[in-house]
Amino acid sequence: MPHPLGPSTHRPTRFRRAVLAFTVCAATLLGAALLPSTARAADPPLRELAAAKGIYLGNAVAGGALGGNAAYAALAGAQFGSLTPENAMKWGSVEPTRGSYNWAEADQIVAFAQAHGQQVRGHTLVWHSQNPGWLANGGFGAAELRGILQQHIATEVGRYQGRVRAWDVLNELFDEDGSYRSSLWTDTLGTGFVADALTWAHQADPAAELYLNDYNVEGLGAKSDALYALVRSLKAQGAPIHGVGFQAHFVLGQVPATLQANLQRFADLGVDVAVTELDVRLQTPATEAKLSQQAADYGTVVKSCLAVSRCRGVTAWDISDADSWVPSVFPGYGAATLYDAGYQPKPAHHAVAVALGAGTHTSTPSPSASSSPAPGCTAAYTVPNQWNTGFTGGVTVSCPPGSSLGSWRVGWDFTAGQQLSQSWNATCTQTGTRVTCANAAWNGGVTAGGSVAFGFNGTWSGSNPVPVVALN
Ligand code: XIL
Repeated sequence: MPHPLGPSTHRPTRFRRAVLAFTVCAATLLGAALLPSTARAADPPLRELAAAKGIYLGNAVAGGALGGNAAYAALAGAQFGSLTPENAMKWGSVEPTRGSYNWAEADQIVAFAQAHGQQVRGHTLVWHSQNPGWLANGGFGAAELRGILQQHIATEVGRYQGRVRAWDVLNELFDEDGSYRSSLWTDTLGTGFVADALTWAHQADPAAELYLNDYNVEGLGAKSDALYALVRSLKAQGAPIHGVGFQAHFVLGQVPATLQANLQRFADLGVDVAVTELDVRLQTPATEAKLSQQAADYGTVVKSCLAVSRCRGVTAWDISDADSWVPSVFPGYGAATLYDAGYQPKPAHHAVAVALGAGTHTSTPSPSASSSPAPGCTAAYTVPNQWNTGFTGGVTVSCPPGSSLGSWRVGWDFTAGQQLSQSWNATCTQTGTRVTCANAAWNGGVTAGGSVAFGFNGTWSGSNPVPVVALN
């Protein structure tokens, strides 16, 4: 008896939803033509697109806004598959007075993530900044400071054991020239605390992925060379280092050309990589040209991550331009995020969606889509049956009242190695991961309010995620 879900049950709930339906390309085209770019027809949720490509798309959040700003919370929950507490897990937030902990905001964010099926990136355990006064100005000697650090790491990582997927254990260790930054930590403890901090975190949660995180290390250069040398030496020592986070606080038009190559060289050391704090600031006011360059920059970053198999995901830094840290820290700059101050998606949002595989048709419309637009027609993918090596899939093409189709094509990517073996009621081909199905001679017409269905068999192993389907 075939098991209806098979081994894919470990996947998040969203993968087990039988149906993913997306608006027909024609609707996007129509929307793009009639409306300003910020109000074009909605892209599929970024978290779904990212998951279908095997990465996560995350964002940084604050508890106050999650609890008190409905537009912010709705985007945070719906669009992102990973959350990073923007400030709530920093030392100054969790232990403002020695020995007296305040976990309220961090707990709130972790609970929100769990309720929305999201991962959490813990940020950050050891940093030169945002430390409480008692720590920064305590004048502790090396032995006492080491003990304080060990206890902090054990307490915080231990509290969230099993609930935080990855920790930025150490943040911003280096200066621009690649020397260690002078800080409370290096000034008192030298540099041996780096491996110790990783070890203490590993002891507190052996399953957590442990990262070093920094900025201005995204491209090749003295600073990223220093980080690279540190990661290599930590690996050689057998320290528990699992990943490197590249903050990616970029200036418009200045994504380093060597980003992908740099991510790849770190991955080649045997660690994961992730873009952890992406934003692209521009000199305000924003213009259409600047927003379009910004969209290209965001797209470049996502594509670079997708091109490196050990790149786990991309986290944007702050939900909207109204929430961004940029204007207060870089005077004259702003508009750095994916959503404008009214929580509407910016061109960068669409560029990220396209980089993740959505709506690639919008720039090269097919003749049928542009000559007979059919707003609202959708294609829905289901897996009615699955067993240990095979499955039966089905797609239903439907149109709402007032829209119809004379012919149709449905495409998707099998991202987990699935292979099509036969199809019925459509002509399907698979090239690499790409599957394209066109109507048979007798079922190209979809009437207003009607639907047609086709089916196929395929093979799978490991997992069989529901793909993102496009109708065009
Ligand atoms: C920033 C937050 O976004 C601000 O709200 C806060 O005032 C300062 O810190 N690198 C990091 C992040 O690792 O923790 C910083 O976050 C941005 C730069």
